[in-house]
Amino acid sequence: MKVDILTLFPQMFKGVLGESMLRIAQEKKKINVRIHNLRDWTSDRHRTADDKPYGGGGGMVMKIEPIHRALTSILGEKGIKKIRNKKSFNKTTKIILLTPGGKRFNQALAKRLSKLKHLILICGHYEGVDERVRFLSTNEISIGDYIITGGEIPAMVVLDAVARLIPGVLGSSSSLTCESFENNLLEYPQYTRPRKFEEREVPKVLLSGDHKAIREWRKAESLKRTKKMRKDLFKK
Ligand SMILES: C[S@@+](CC[C@H](N)C(=O)[O-])C[C@H]1O[C@@H](n2cnc3c(N)ncnc32)[C@H](O)[C@@H]1O
Repeated sequence: MKVDILTLFPQMFKGVLGESMLRIAQEKKKINVRIHNLRDWTSDRHRTADDKPYGGGGGMVMKIEPIHRALTSILGEKGIKKIRNKKSFNKTTKIILLTPGGKRFNQALAKRLSKLKHLILICGHYEGVDERVRFLSTNEISIGDYIITGGEIPAMVVLDAVARLIPGVLGSSSSLTCESFENNLLEYPQYTRPRKFEEREVPKVLLSGDHKAIREWRKAESLKRTKKMRKDLFKK
């Protein structure tokens, strides 16, 4: 999958892309991530990428031109025109604007995105982006009902959740199918050595070697935990 990230703070991505699963996904050539500094697409000598909001009010708003230029460089004139004319865009490419007002991100959406060939993530900052940027995107995603400083961390969240679902990125695909939110359930409790820590012991069934009993225990624990912690999921 090709991934293009548009940001004013490219350095923020160094750590996450250089470690753990996202580093491995790149090494295995499952994802090819390019970070675009939006200041490279400004046209004045101060490299201005934001400006005061029309109508007054505090803070700065990210300008549309650098974003438009960056997208044009990635998609070409034809690609960007298709979006502007609202023609159905190539189903294998999505241009996602990270915004608190977007569709709430979840595992089902991560799964759908993991099937794409090309993912473009636009990170807002300051007071957000000029409203017209919405018309350059195909989707808007929020990572939850709270405001953080910029779209960089949301972009990392989306990229991490998506990349680990691409076949071949994680060593064992069974670890994916047992994870929380599969079948609307939270994951069962997991234990490793030691058998006893202070007064807490590992449940005996997990030491029994009886795989059927272990499977049943895990299912029951999964249901119990989901009912207690996430009634909304449990109802589903
Ligand atoms: C400080 S926020 C702007 C918030 C905006 N003034 C509002 O009230 O909706 C700056 C940028 O951070 C990103 N952002 C903040 N919270 C987010 C969230 N929950 N989900 C996705 N992106 C978020 C967006 O890209 C946004 O443009």
